[in-house]
Amino acid sequence: MTRGPIIAIDGPAGAGKSTVARHLAQHFGLLNLETGAMYRAFALKAIECDQDFDDACALERLARDTEIRLESDRSANRVFLDGQDVTERIRDSDVTQGASRVSVHPGIRTWMVDLQRELGRRGGVVMEGRDIGTVVFPDADVKVFLDASPDARSQRRYEQNSGNGGIAAAAEPSMVFRELRERDERDRNRANSPLHPASDAVVIDSTTLSLTEVLARIEDLVRPLLDRRGPMEKVS
Ligand code: DC
Repeated sequence: MTRGPIIAIDGPAGAGKSTVARHLAQHFGLLNLETGAMYRAFALKAIECDQDFDDACALERLARDTEIRLESDRSANRVFLDGQDVTERIRDSDVTQGASRVSVHPGIRTWMVDLQRELGRRGGVVMEGRDIGTVVFPDADVKVFLDASPDARSQRRYEQNSGNGGIAAAAEPSMVFRELRERDERDRNRANSPLHPASDAVVIDSTTLSLTEVLARIEDLVRPLLDRRGPMEKVS
């Protein structure tokens, strides 16, 4: 069976991956799979079970008793943890930091990567995360590494949080900046699948680019691929 196209969007926190991936998926009629949401859902499980983020063995045991599901349609992605919709809760700051901490453990990553490969098996997806082009789908058809300066990323995250309301809205800009730096440090320096661009990824620095400009660049990479392949089979 030939699979549909796989578009990998990797990059650090706050680079705009989610927004870009959502627009691309809508534009080209692909599924949008946000892998960070899966690590977030598992971090929430660890919080709810009062589990230490540094205890790899206990986390692996917990993973065996955890079901994470992504539902993606044209307008939104929803995330389910053991059948419960946790889409909003996983954006809170305790879960954000927890996701970065549980994701350093090789056993947790292997479990997640298997799930993500299964979800993307038939292609027709825009998958975003940290290791999609390097580990999950090294044969992805288009690989983009979306970056921006730490200041620009913190500022975007702060504005996003302020717009969302909730706990995160109360965070000062300096705290958002500190948390993002901490997460960058951990995501880039972990021993297992650290964040870095695949050797064949197109690196886009969005610091001074608008969303429209970023999308135009990526659409120029994806369009020829879809034109070559002809009409897409519907993926559900
Ligand atoms: O993309 P995000 O900010 O929602 O991701 C939350 C954390 O999950 C991030 O700090 C690192 C981890 N993550 C990962 O290790 N690999 C991925 N493919 C996606 C996210």
